[in-house]
Amino acid sequence: MNLIIFGATGRTGRELVSQALEQGHAVTAFVRDSTRMHMTHDNLKIVHGNIDSYPDILSVVQATRYDAALFALGSKSPFRRNPVLNNAMQNIIRAMEDSGTERFIHISFVGTRSDAGRLGMMYRFVIPVFMRNLLADHREKEQLLQSSSLDWMIAQPPMLTNGPRTGQYTYSAGIDKSKAGKLKLSRANLAEFMLKQLEDHAYSRKEVFVTE
Ligand SMILES: NC(=O)c1ccc[n+]([C@@H]2O[C@H](COP(=O)([O-])OP(=O)(O)OC[C@H]3O[C@@H](n4cnc5c(N)ncnc54)[C@H](OP(=O)(O)O)[C@@H]3O)[C@@H](O)[C@H]2O)c1
Repeated sequence: MNLIIFGATGRTGRELVSQALEQGHAVTAFVRDSTRMHMTHDNLKIVHGNIDSYPDILSVVQATRYDAALFALGSKSPFRRNPVLNNAMQNIIRAMEDSGTERFIHISFVGTRSDAGRLGMMYRFVIPVFMRNLLADHREKEQLLQSSSLDWMIAQPPMLTNGPRTGQYTYSAGIDKSKAGKLKLSRANLAEFMLKQLEDHAYSRKEVFVTE
């Protein structure tokens, strides 16, 4: 497949790029600073641009036919609002709708869900207060996607780690506390799960809780 990855220089983004290349996909990495992209590969194209600029995004999305876009952009601080990432989401959705690319695989956070409190005290009382700005941003991005015409899937992980890719994780559209496991997920496993969704449309236009 021909993929475009936003946030390719981030920790999950790098996993997405390397696993996608390993699986034989062609990857375009949209980055703000190409010196942060240390990978090279015949099937990897690095494109420099500003996520806050609709023309920058449109010119890349329109340049070729992509099978899917993957969003791994993330905020440096979990405590402050970051409107640039929400603008980026708007720009990407608009560019995809204008150019006919439909499949969009996104990373959000399980804390955004109205039933996240079922995961325990942390999700019921602590995260909604201390991470309210991060949650507001994630919810806004989710809503933009949900009201788009795209064929989206929103991965909702708990805390992310830099652990290995084990393939040992579970996922479901609903939250089943008995299967909620460790309430953490390695970025490598998250990337594996996201790339699997390229072939599997069972969770098309659905939010999916994914955890080890
Ligand atoms: N941390 C957790 O425990 C956790 C839990 C659940 C969900 N999540 C979500 O998972 C996603 C991925 O997280 P991660 O830890 O893999 O992210 P990360 O390592 O912090 O990477 C963030 C990426 O976003 C890019 N970025 C940020 N601001 C940008 C801007 N203004 N312009 C252009 N690019 C920008 C960064 O580019 P540069 O490399 O150029 O800085 C980088 O590629 C995030 O949305 C995060 O909220 C995280």
